[in-house]
Amino acid sequence: PESIRSICCIGAGYVGGPTCAIIAHKCPEITVTVVDKNPIRIAQWNSDKLPIYEPGLQEIVMKCRGKNLFYSTNVEEGVVNADLIFISVNTPTKTYGAGKGRAADLTHVESCARIIAGCASGYKVVVEKSTVPVRAAASISEIFGANSPAASNFQVLSNPEFLAEGTAVADLLNPDRVLIGGSQTPAGLEAIALLTAVYSHWVAPERIVTMNTWSSELSKLVSNAFLAQRVSSINAVSAICEATGADISEVAEAVGRDSRIGSKFLQASVGFGGSCFQKDILNLVYVSECLNLPEVAQYWMQVIVMNDFQKSRFAKKIVSRLFNTISNKAIAVFGFAFKKNTGDTRESPAISVCAHLLEEGARLNIYDPKVETEQILSDLCHPGVCALPRERIENLVTTHADPHSAAANTHAIVVLTEWDEFKTLDYEKMIKSMLRPAWVFDGRKILDHERLMDLGFYTECIGHRYQRPQFYDHCNGPEFPHFS
Ligand code: NAD
Ligand code: UDX
Repeated sequence: PESIRSICCIGAGYVGGPTCAIIAHKCPEITVTVVDKNPIRIAQWNSDKLPIYEPGLQEIVMKCRGKNLFYSTNVEEGVVNADLIFISVNTPTKTYGAGKGRAADLTHVESCARIIAGCASGYKVVVEKSTVPVRAAASISEIFGANSPAASNFQVLSNPEFLAEGTAVADLLNPDRVLIGGSQTPAGLEAIALLTAVYSHWVAPERIVTMNTWSSELSKLVSNAFLAQRVSSINAVSAICEATGADISEVAEAVGRDSRIGSKFLQASVGFGGSCFQKDILNLVYVSECLNLPEVAQYWMQVIVMNDFQKSRFAKKIVSRLFNTISNKAIAVFGFAFKKNTGDTRESPAISVCAHLLEEGARLNIYDPKVETEQILSDLCHPGVCALPRERIENLVTTHADPHSAAANTHAIVVLTEWDEFKTLDYEKMIKSMLRPAWVFDGRKILDHERLMDLGFYTECIGHRYQRPQFYDHCNGPEFPHFS
């Protein structure tokens, strides 16, 4: 075809949903159908309460839905009617077999390829939007070739997605770059041109970068590895700050002022979470191992080792400050999502910090503005997360609809997500309802700690050490022998 008139996206998740809403919004002459095998998800996309929360998304979906944006469970029909098909299904870390715990599980991608091979005919551009290991497009092409004579007419492209959750709409509307990889043959270049024309409706030509398929697939893994590495690097330094009196915000400012380094992504935290960073680094580690490059694999693995250390270091600090015993003590947890402005909890650092506190016997009052109670319980009760039986976890965890009720009668407030609303809460009122000494453990370094201390809080945060009054000598702890 001369241009793409209809698009089908397989996978109505965090990527497929917002991406297709923006395409429909910006390309009124293209019909966009998002299909998913999960009927609950499709029903939610067709309802007033969308399955995911992203600022600005609801308005765009409501504007386009029923006009040129449709959601359906009929995968085959969507595929048959489309000129261009996005594969935007989940590619989690494998939990079984070869590469368990590292390799990407490509079951869903392969099943999409087989569905497309089984029902499509004519010319189709098939676009890998899911994050996959380098050379995955070759497997898709091979499945097409082996299953369907018509598939010789299919072109496979790589078009990885770089949106971040919480800012998906803004990222999609104004991307740093759109990356399109394809085979450098006349047919491959023609397919690249067709997809480029779709994005050109709203993305400037200099931001659309085209390259060979393998470079494009690898660039996605490497982008996430670099971003996560920055977080682990600043978090490694935060541990040095806490032990020395240096302040991580000041260090980040000084380092980030170097234009070669840049100031973004240097916010020290309780650790990175989200469905992508850990999974994609493990994917890169596995690719490196398979290529017999153990030093390269270990180099990237260290980013995850550091992240695990940061999460457990923070949890252990809470226990140690609360006189090394939190059994049966109530603790308020502010935030459960892996970052602000999303209800997503996948790989959230809150999960491992809460599991640690529960195993020590604490009672947790959890408040998050966007995460549902069932999600919190299902994350904490997931096998391998917390050593306690489900019944005991359900007993120890209470979710709250507001932060004040969560903090009442607790020994400590633990901030695990950087929601803006936590900065402006009435801590003066809150401390009056708490037990003394009342602690704040700020895992995101977002609160005004000087003011909290003026109100009487004992404060700990990532990347900065506060002096304690002498009678709480233990707080200056044996971990700082040279400085106390
Ligand atoms: P998700 O789990 O939110 O959504 C995937 C959807 O695909 C699910 O609804 C599932 O039911 C559906 N699905 C799976 N197999 C199917 C099949 N055979 N037929 C029909 N539907 C099927 O996942 P996501 O977060 O949207 O991620 C999708 C891909 O995009 C992953 O590879 C991920 O690594 C990548 N990615 C994610 C993000 C992010 O921020 N979440 C960002 C960039 C890239
Ligand atoms: C990431 C990538 O940014 C995005 O390009 C890719 O498409 C998907 O993976 P996402 O995981 O949605 O996006 O969010 P991101 O903003 O990258 O944050 C990831 C984690 O790192 C969060 O837990 C966040 O709190 C943490 N983080 C981020 C920090 O701790 N410090 C920072 O400076 C930045």
